[in-house]
Amino acid sequence: MKQLLVSFTREFTPEMERLRRSGFHGPAGLESSADEFDVHSVHVMAELNGVLTGMVRMTPEPPSVLQSWFHGKSPLPTGAGVVDANRGVVHENFRGLGIYKVLMLEALAWAKAQNSTHVVAVIEPTSPLREFLKRTGCVEIGNPLSGWHPPVVEETLGQCIAWRTGDYPQKIITLRDTLKGELERKGLNVSGPHCFKP
Ligand SMILES: CC(C)(COP(=O)(O)OP(=O)(O)OC[C@H]1O[C@@H](n2cnc3c(N)ncnc32)[C@H](O)[C@@H]1OP(=O)(O)O)[C@@H](O)C(=O)NCCC(=O)NCCS
Repeated sequence: MKQLLVSFTREFTPEMERLRRSGFHGPAGLESSADEFDVHSVHVMAELNGVLTGMVRMTPEPPSVLQSWFHGKSPLPTGAGVVDANRGVVHENFRGLGIYKVLMLEALAWAKAQNSTHVVAVIEPTSPLREFLKRTGCVEIGNPLSGWHPPVVEETLGQCIAWRTGDYPQKIITLRDTLKGELERKGLNVSGPHCFKP
């Protein structure tokens, strides 16, 4: 059985930089893709037998990533107690296994454990993740809005979504139990500090 281990870090390492660039275009050359939000963030990481396979950035407000990306026009809750979930990425060799789902369930459980009131995010309107995220208890807020997504500077449409941390604990436990079984059938044993406690 392979071990899929979820952990949390404040560091942004060169390995994380490579993974981020594999999912989102980075700046040209050797310039880092780290932005002003990385120093305020916690990164949820998934390692498969020690290899970094996926991560999600959790940025407790202030500052608000999404107010910045939507030029101050985000309809999402904002301020202390809100956490922005962003820059979710899974290495292309490991997609389709459920690693993003593992990361998001751990991220949501972590936000609840921090006494946060809300988690907020944006997804592309056609994102294949939309149905899964709804099952975790998020609600879609407003119509898709035009914003940007550094380092992609052209405006793109994003659907704002939000979770109230009081609303999802039972939902994520149910999803976790199903996912744990599915991953075990694929030969993966998952552990993490919040949702996937051994
Ligand atoms: C989007 C991304 C994070 C998904 O990671 P993943 O580990 O492969 O996703 P999972 O295996 O956990 O699947 C999550 C859900 O999305 C669906 N899904 C993911 N990628 C899909 C695709 N290309 N086509 C269709 N469905 C897809 C899965 O079927 C699953 O839904 P289900 O419960 O209905 O089966 C990954 O493809 C990626 O890194 N893309 C580039 C960066 C990006 O676009 N990030 C989005 C941040 S909002």
